[in-house]
Amino acid sequence: MSDFINGFWPWYVAGISLVSILACALLLWLAGKATVNPNANLVDDNTTGHVWDEDLRELNNPLPRWWMWLFILTVIFALGYLAIFPGLGSYKGLSQWTTLAEHKVDVERLRADVAPLYAEFSAQSVEALSHDPRALAIGERQFMNTCSQCHGSDGRGSKSFPNLTNGNAAWLGERNAEHIVQTITNGRVGMMPPMGAAVGSESDITDVAHYVLSLSGSPYNEVKAFNGKQKFVTCAACHGLDGKGNKLIGAPNLTDDYWLHGWGEAAIVSAIKYGKNNVMPAQAPKLTPEQIHVVAAYVLSLGGSPQAAK
Ligand code: HEC
Ligand code: HEC
Repeated sequence: MSDFINGFWPWYVAGISLVSILACALLLWLAGKATVNPNANLVDDNTTGHVWDEDLRELNNPLPRWWMWLFILTVIFALGYLAIFPGLGSYKGLSQWTTLAEHKVDVERLRADVAPLYAEFSAQSVEALSHDPRALAIGERQFMNTCSQCHGSDGRGSKSFPNLTNGNAAWLGERNAEHIVQTITNGRVGMMPPMGAAVGSESDITDVAHYVLSLSGSPYNEVKAFNGKQKFVTCAACHGLDGKGNKLIGAPNLTDDYWLHGWGEAAIVSAIKYGKNNVMPAQAPKLTPEQIHVVAAYVLSLGGSPQAAK
């Protein structure tokens, strides 16, 4: 309860709460004392003196006892509650209770409950776990919670978010446990610098783009591809002379039919002109090493079929 913008408001809030409760008690006390009809004592027929429809009279009976006690208990309960729990401005309460601490206790309890299971999983390699249905069931749920918003609920990704069901050749890194665990833990940055200036004119750039298209057997313009071939040396440092990429620096294979950033002349021209800066945030702050171990096994189990989405 430290979200007040200045020292006045906690007192204001606490004041209103206490005054309201005390006003309730006062109301009860006064209601017990009040005589509504000043003449009632004279007449003493136990009415308030109010008359409707000629002969309907309002009686002046006392409040039922059970109701009165309930009212008193409510007032006592409210004061006790506000003494123990944080409810009065920034007063923390005798118990020092907070939702955050309660949540932490719950999380600790849950972790302790699943610890033996995770210990069993951690004792096995990621590869072995990728065949364990119990680990995969947990890994799948973890994937849905923390990965699917980017990689899709089926792991097939979308534009700029890698398809994790691809075979090794279409991966940015090596498709193995070490790379997967490391990527989840620390995230990764895919960096291609803008290459427009190094390649040359607009038509030089489209020439290289057509050469790149030719590498994957996509439809391309032969003359342009022929002209673009020499210019491809500017790309070779990262993508290799044969265009098959370099997993050490995350430069993708340009000879397969998987296009992380979209297929076609326009997409390739844009990659050359503006480069790419593709970031996966580190997941270590959200997941424990044991959870990463299990979700990595799930990723490894996602087939690794050679197929790819365009
Ligand atoms: C905020 C979006 C985002 C989230 C969340 C995310 N990723 Fe990624 N992930 C990416 C991007 C973007 C890349 C590609 C980075 C690059 O281009 O180098 C990537 C790359 C990867 C790779 C490497 C693929 C390859 O071809 O080498 C793996 C494995 C991976 N993610 C697994 C996961 C898992 C498992 C989770 C959940 C624990 C996860 N990611 C959560 C965006 C995300
Ligand atoms: C400094 C290294 C480097 C150089 C030089 C480089 N690239 Fe790249 N390129 C990369 C990296 C890394 C990526 C992946 C970025 C990511 O992770 O999203 C990439 C991605 C691409 C893509 C997108 C691939 C896809 O699957 O969508 C294309 C196309 C591409 N590069 C073409 C080229 C061409 C053509 C050249 C030469 C003009 C070139 N690159 C030069 C490092 C480089």
